[in-house]
Parts: sequence; structure tokens; C-alpha cells
Amino acid sequence: LPEAPAPSAVRGPDQSASGLSVDVAFTASQIPRGDTAVVVDVLRATSTIVQALAAGFGSVRCCRTLEAARDLDRPGRVLAAERDCRRPPGFKLGNSPVEIAGTSGGGDQLVLATTNGSPAVVSAAQAVDKVLIGSLLNLDATVAAIPSSGRLVVVCSGTAGAPALEDVYVAGRIIERLGAELSDSARIAVCVAGAYGDPRDALAASADARQLIATQQGCDIDWCTRESTVDLVPEAAFSVGDAAVVALPNDK
Ligand code: MLT
Repeated sequence: LPEAPAPSAVRGPDQSASGLSVDVAFTASQIPRGDTAVVVDVLRATSTIVQALAAGFGSVRCCRTLEAARDLDRPGRVLAAERDCRRPPGFKLGNSPVEIAGTSGGGDQLVLATTNGSPAVVSAAQAVDKVLIGSLLNLDATVAAIPSSGRLVVVCSGTAGAPALEDVYVAGRIIERLGAELSDSARIAVCVAGAYGDPRDALAASADARQLIATQQGCDIDWCTRESTVDLVPEAAFSVGDAAVVALPNDK
């Protein structure tokens, strides 16, 4: 591993330059109180959501289950899902940002049911008022969209209830640019971000990347490292039952 940053590189509460405090949920099972949440599932659900809106989908309806997504099948909606990194039968699209980038959304709604990422968006939308969707694709835009005060929670989707290296890395990349008061979890994320010189190294070191390579979807790992190539930040507009609709803020 590359060298971790010296502890002095991490800003502490007494060094905070703003009224913003930052915490991190390493999984979506326990989301701390906050005013704003940024949900991260860089491999691949939040990258897919960001790419879907960039490709012209009008909104993305995040679901907890495949059944919930199937029930939402209507004209004007496109169903996408993933289990074990593969597209389940009956769904038009999988959870691949590369695939979504080659699709024309045409204002339709993408209905997305993934294993960890889309349920994490639903959980965050049920727990926190303002929910942003973060990834490396929209890193600059995400940092710019975070309010300068209040309590920020970065929600790492994780994998099967355990922390995922790549999500913690992206959380740290966001947090290191905020100049905020940091919880211990936030400091851990910043240390992880500082341990990798190149985003691809961080993503590729993860178990989720190995699963993508094993299923011949390694191209998505490269795509998800295309840092700040998308200048938009999807935001949860509303929750309906066990789903949350995310869109660009002006489309609310
Ligand atoms: C998930 O939500 O678990 C993921 O995004 C998995 C994947 O890479 O498809």
C-alpha cells in the first residue's frame, strides 16, 4: 500500500474552518442524525445513478427489492437491477454505468434495484431531509453542493452489511476537501483516501472490484474512476413507500 498520510494532515475539530461537522456511516444499517447525507456506492449504484441522469433519464427510482421494481413496470419507465453483479431475468438493464452511458434516457424514469446501493439511498431518504448522490464521476459537483454548515453524514453503502473499501475511499475524498469538524469515522475515511495516490488503485483493491472482474465487467471499474466528468448532483426528491426518487434539484 502507498504510505498513509501523517495524522497532522487530518483536520481536527479545533481546526474546523466552518460550521460544518461530518460523520461517516460505514454501512447503511445505522445512519447517524444529520441535516444532509451523501450516499456513496461507487461500485456501482451511485455511479450508475449519476450516469443515468447524465444520459437523459428524468429521474431514478431507487428500490429495496427486485419485486418492488418489477411492480413499478409502466410505460415511461426502464427497469434496471443487479444481483451478484449480474442483470436478473426480466430487467432491461443491469447496474453498469458503461451500459447506461450508451443508453438514451429520453426523459424516462430509471427504476433501479441493486443489492446495496439503491436500498442505501432509500434508507438515507427515510432518515435525513436532504440526500445527495455522490461518486467519483461527480466528485467536484458533490463537494460544491454540500452546505457549508450543519451536520453532514456520508453514507457508505457497503457490501452485505460490511464496510466496502471503495466507498470509504470516496467518502474520504469528499471529506478531505470540506474543512469541517470530523468525527473519528470521518478521520478514518480521510486516512483511507490518503493511502491511495490513484483512485483506480483504491477501487481495484476492493473485493467488489474482484467480483466485477470475475463477471467480466472490469470496464465499469475504469469508468467509475472518471473523476469529475459529470457536473451534476442527483438529490432525493421524495420517498414513496419503500422507494426513493432521485432527480436533478430543478426537476423536483
Ligand atoms: C450494489 O448495490 O450492491 C452494487 O452497486 C453492486 C454492483 O456492482 O452491481
